[in-house]
Amino acid sequence: MNLFNVYPLYNVTPVKAKGCYVWDEKGTKYLDLYGGHGVISIGHTHPDYVTKIKEQLDHIGFYSNSIQNPLQVEFANKLGKLSGCEDYNLFLCNSGAEANENALKLASFKTGKKRVISFEKAFHGRTSAAVAVTDNININAPINLQQEVTFLPLNQIDLVERELNKGDVCAVIIEGIQGVGGLDEGSTQFFQDLQKACNKNGVIFILDEIQSGYGRSGKFFAFQHHDIHPDIITTAKGMGNGFPIGGVLISDKIEAKFGMLGTTFGGNHLACAAAIAVLDVVEKEKLMDNINVVSSYFLERIKEISQVKKVKGRGLMLGVEFEFEVVEIRKKLIFDHHIFTGGAANKNLLRILPPLSVKKSQIDEFVNALKEVLND
Ligand SMILES: Cc1ncc(COP(=O)(O)O)c(C=O)c1O
Repeated sequence: MNLFNVYPLYNVTPVKAKGCYVWDEKGTKYLDLYGGHGVISIGHTHPDYVTKIKEQLDHIGFYSNSIQNPLQVEFANKLGKLSGCEDYNLFLCNSGAEANENALKLASFKTGKKRVISFEKAFHGRTSAAVAVTDNININAPINLQQEVTFLPLNQIDLVERELNKGDVCAVIIEGIQGVGGLDEGSTQFFQDLQKACNKNGVIFILDEIQSGYGRSGKFFAFQHHDIHPDIITTAKGMGNGFPIGGVLISDKIEAKFGMLGTTFGGNHLACAAAIAVLDVVEKEKLMDNINVVSSYFLERIKEISQVKKVKGRGLMLGVEFEFEVVEIRKKLIFDHHIFTGGAANKNLLRILPPLSVKKSQIDEFVNALKEVLND
């Protein structure tokens, strides 16, 4: 059987990984400044994480959501404490798209309405409603286009208010910092105005923190830079350090009812063990401090490169923008210097999403390599 060929692949085959490095089958070592799309949070194959998952597998790996699972409660308590979001309730699922799908469903259940306001260049996943609120017509099939969605530019609150006033909107969904789109973000004023407009109109305010959450922006969730309190927060990527898990944090505004949401695999024992190990390491190794220290160092060092037009993003969710397309730079970084970086919808932007444990010396490796590539 052939694989369904939907991914253009780089000719690299990682077979081993540790911390911020991966190795291919020939033993070549690569510096991973992309974390497999911002997924690797505590570093590849962290020993505490590996031990925790292996031990859990020896006890029980899976049972259904119709029995008690104390690991879900333990995880929810830890997440509440570390994120400062103790006043939310947690629903566990398996991916970012699924988290957003459930968030939009909750908004629609709560309000009885179905139009959603999303933003230009937004990416929220590939399932039914999640892809419909993603600003990319090429990945929407006709079946997705039956959803009612209005895309607006960021930072223009008057346009949002005009739509909310029409009275048919169930949710506003926005990324803490846009990932796939290219690291644009709302201003603090805009986030605060959005919250007010949603409250005033009885609309559910959803923060997609799937990429920007879990410390990546320098705060646990990127919206925490703006002093707001969303109705729903969605999370995935860094949560499991590669183990598939997603979460929906739901404010008391939305009351749970039996059967309202559900999943076979979401919140299973193994996924919870992985997610607990991640939070334990974030705390024990003070990764939140590391993110801010290494981010400042990155911003200082990147100034040495005159071709850089702008650096976007925050913390360790960064985009280095040039006046020209970066596709060749990314190739040279991988094949000549063995460094993984990412691209974005904005073709001039190099995306940097390293494990949150990345060190200054690894930023040095990158800056030195980038200088060489640009001077070739
Ligand atoms: C902001 C954001 N939301 C949602 C998703 C979808 O997550 P998943 O691929 O786990 O379904 C992504 C994935 O890149 C994302 O960056």
